[in-house]
Amino acid sequence: MDIRIAASDHRAPTTLPDPLGFGRHFTHRMLTRTWSADTGWEPVASIGPRVPIALDPGAQVLHCGQAIFEGTKAYLRADGALGLFRPEANAARFERSARRLALPPLPVEDFVEALAAFADCERDWAPQAPGASLYLRPVLLGIEPTLEVRASARCLFYVVASPCGPYFASGFRPVAVRVEDAHVRAVRGGTGSAKTVGNYAGSLAATEAARSDGYQQVLWLDAIERRWIEEAGAMNVAFVRGGRTIVTPALSGSILEGVTRDSVLRLAPDLGFAVEETRLDIADVMADVRAGAITEAFCMGTAAVVVPIGRIGRDGHDFVVGDGAAGPVATALYDTLTAIQTGRRADPYGWTRVVARRGVAQPTTA
Ligand code: COI
Repeated sequence: MDIRIAASDHRAPTTLPDPLGFGRHFTHRMLTRTWSADTGWEPVASIGPRVPIALDPGAQVLHCGQAIFEGTKAYLRADGALGLFRPEANAARFERSARRLALPPLPVEDFVEALAAFADCERDWAPQAPGASLYLRPVLLGIEPTLEVRASARCLFYVVASPCGPYFASGFRPVAVRVEDAHVRAVRGGTGSAKTVGNYAGSLAATEAARSDGYQQVLWLDAIERRWIEEAGAMNVAFVRGGRTIVTPALSGSILEGVTRDSVLRLAPDLGFAVEETRLDIADVMADVRAGAITEAFCMGTAAVVVPIGRIGRDGHDFVVGDGAAGPVATALYDTLTAIQTGRRADPYGWTRVVARRGVAQPTTA
């Protein structure tokens, strides 16, 4: 794949808005590459001005929702270089999501190269503040005009970038979640493990209702028995038993395989914590929260990294987790992961990639 960069006099503003918020501001360029059933992926990806996408009103995505996306962050590192975090993991998930949605899989190396080239172009937009990053949003859509229910014969891959602060305006502070007993996010055999737009659309009504009652996220249960904990909002979730053991729902087919989730599970033993992937019964978890056997709970995702859960609501009652404050396990995980991501701490896992100027991402040396 070649990358063509259109000449541009778009520069990053000398000051970025403060506070930045999450996903509210965009850089001035985008990367695009098209696919057709006849000729496959176009050999060139183009970086040019970020302009509205002209879609035929009959475009497949507008009716059938054939669309997937990813989220990954470029961090300004302590030495001024720009770093990506596990872009291959996002690329692999993008490929899996594409297959689940009958979209054309983009080769992993093309995804990583496109991301690195685009991040390189937009590096002046990477914010410096703690907890801030240049969030990259790759998207793949079916754009063929057709009202038939079938896979689109034309697709568009694009990437936009957004200089972002923390996902929650409160940053690394405890959030409140409400157990969602009416709606479900996903069912085994469905699309819950793919990062497809419909999963998020289907989550909005419950999330907005929870928000208007003072919770930031909902705690999703499984679709069949309404018993097993799956995710917290748009993130994976974990609980801490006895201050040392991190337990998280095992991947069941309806849970998104989070890159942050995987990183936490790999990192935690090196910080002295035990990890367990298992089925978590909501009734047991609520009882353990009440009894103090669960000392912490936290969400994990690319956007928020790790965020403590201070309060869980169900049936009109609220239960405080631990003492309701950010606990030591979530704090250690957040601090260590963000230090690795920003190059403030050695990366023995080989997760970080420095974006070469006018080039691709190179592994950092730990
Ligand atoms: C993430 O944690 O990155 C998410 O998937 C949440 C959202 C911004 C889509």
